[in-house]
Amino acid sequence: MTAAISDSENLTFSNDKVTSTEEGNFVVYKMGAKTFRLDKTKARARFAGKKVINGMRSAELNVLPLKYHEAYRIYKQMKANHWEPDVIDMTRDSQQWNTNALSQKERWIIEMGVGYFSAAEGIVGDSVLHVIEDNLTAAELKHASLRHIAEESIHMDSLLHIIGSLNIDLDEVTAKFSDIPSVQKKNAFITRQMPELKMGIDLTQTVNKQKFAKAIFGITQVMEGTQFYALFAMVLSLHRQNKMTGIGQMFQYTLRDESNHIELGRYILSQLFAENPDIMTPEFRAELVEFMREGVELEKEFVRDCLPEDGVGMTQADFLTYVDYNADRRLAGLGLPTLSNVKTNPFAWLDEVIFLRKEKNFFETRVTEYQTSGSVTNAAEDDLI
Ligand SMILES: [Fe+2]
Ligand SMILES: [Fe+2]
Repeated sequence: MTAAISDSENLTFSNDKVTSTEEGNFVVYKMGAKTFRLDKTKARARFAGKKVINGMRSAELNVLPLKYHEAYRIYKQMKANHWEPDVIDMTRDSQQWNTNALSQKERWIIEMGVGYFSAAEGIVGDSVLHVIEDNLTAAELKHASLRHIAEESIHMDSLLHIIGSLNIDLDEVTAKFSDIPSVQKKNAFITRQMPELKMGIDLTQTVNKQKFAKAIFGITQVMEGTQFYALFAMVLSLHRQNKMTGIGQMFQYTLRDESNHIELGRYILSQLFAENPDIMTPEFRAELVEFMREGVELEKEFVRDCLPEDGVGMTQADFLTYVDYNADRRLAGLGLPTLSNVKTNPFAWLDEVIFLRKEKNFFETRVTEYQTSGSVTNAAEDDLI
């Protein structure tokens, strides 16, 4: 007999099919080749206690039975996309960087990429940890969120790999970017709401639930989903011209990760809204759209700083359209009204790049180099002590 404990029978996670059947006092829960016998009473209590926020908190392993299947699927997808920055070959990048093979405009884009993301990856990781993950209560949502945080660490590591390979002066880069108003404004805009949320707020109150929802929206849809993409596209456009291909490769992997972070954020928000219908008032809908509108405005200012005039085979106008295109995608994904109605991606080639990377397994092509790099890394760590 099929049990009612799973809300989505026969769900498939890559190769894993999930089914549950009742046998006496147990629920036999199957995920792919794995079988779990769960005490029916306890499993029902765990399932009933699962909520996005204000649910049961437990130190026990209470991932099963799954309630938020999509979060677990995204977790598996994130894990399948695992990559290691250290093994990306930066020899050509270093040559190009240090032999003036790049124009001033091209160098500036790389510097903006390193400078902006050096701070931005940390802001995302810190906010997902202290604001989002900390307030989620369902195990599988926390689980996926922790993987998201781990991937931000990989992204930070990739920046170290770039900085170290090109011999960029870290302090110089940091100092340079602390003076650029558009960078400062973007970061302040996203982080201004975080201190209060980090203190811990009462999420039984509607106003606080709205603040929490806005923080998830800000990090995953506005920042990762809209404010990262123009600079990604600029660096990947250089990669397309065979310039700074090591960095381009890392940005491709990072972009693939970001698409999962955006998807996870959207899923958490959709479940949060469904469980807490008091959140989505007309005023709050308008507040989210306004927040995105402000994010778009700041991003366009940033794009003008990155690419003050057309160049490197790209037009500034296309990048500004790209910002609108991404913002509308994020708003539409949550059923919110769009701002500009740009329906066509001005960088169709970028979609192809992202799609191709989804097909690529990092370890299938790089397992040899990865193992070699691992042994080198360990030796270097010993030397450090
Ligand atoms: Fe990231
Ligand atoms: Fe991210």
